[in-house]
Amino acid sequence: MGDIVLASKITHVPSIWLSLQEGKHHGIRRPAEEALAEVGRRARARQVDTFVIADTHWLNSSGFHLNGKARHEALYASHELPHFIQGLRYSYPGDPELAALIGEEITAGGQKALVHDIPELGLEYGTLVPMHIMNSDEPKIRVLPIGCNMYSTVEENLRVGEAIARAARRSGRRVGFLASGSLSHQFPTNALTSQYLNRISADFNAQMDHTVLAMWREGRTEEFLELLPDYNERCRGEGAMADTGMLFGILGGTAYHGRGEQLCDYFPSTGTGQVVVDFSVQLAA
Ligand SMILES: [Fe+2]
Repeated sequence: MGDIVLASKITHVPSIWLSLQEGKHHGIRRPAEEALAEVGRRARARQVDTFVIADTHWLNSSGFHLNGKARHEALYASHELPHFIQGLRYSYPGDPELAALIGEEITAGGQKALVHDIPELGLEYGTLVPMHIMNSDEPKIRVLPIGCNMYSTVEENLRVGEAIARAARRSGRRVGFLASGSLSHQFPTNALTSQYLNRISADFNAQMDHTVLAMWREGRTEEFLELLPDYNERCRGEGAMADTGMLFGILGGTAYHGRGEQLCDYFPSTGTGQVVVDFSVQLAA
């Protein structure tokens, strides 16, 4: 029987990619690299079959979308930041069967789900940067991205998360869920961008991010979910913080009493707040 065996909030900032390359940024995000590698080790140790990744760079404006291709393979350059991320060749097995089940469960929950098998539908860097670090060993773990709807509510994303958990239980898969997105996500204005590589845009955002991290570490889920809609709005949530909504839906919403384990120090990156946190889950037998 399948289940969710890993659930983590992860960073994917392009400076991690730069950190991996030779040049002036080499090594600047080493703690984040190590934290992502640790999530990858935990996934292997728990025999994860498929990473379901809520990718806040696959932004949708209508419905909930799954990339259900049997194989994800291409050479990638970021349209957003082509000077930072280019020449990223990837090849991962996909998971059409689990994609179909998740689509069914989202639909059963009364929401619109679309499962795609489009040859030219590629992956985005919210998936590719973490996968490059976590999923490089053979055999590779299956990759199944779910998009983040920019106009979705927290409530909707909690229900999508519940649907993903139901689908995982129906499948034979051991699923690792990755919420790939920022904490606060306020960018500086264009002319200031380079000055903010290692700075947060607003102290208010940093204070809120630290408050949220304390709630996660201390298992104060009900309090956090009460706060999440305002946190998303005031701290300019990336992709409507849809990834975080799904994560907490998967964990059980207000019934979740587990805790998050912070795997690297909180760090600012181009004005935004970043971290890697692994949440305790009831492991399948
Ligand atoms: Fe991002």
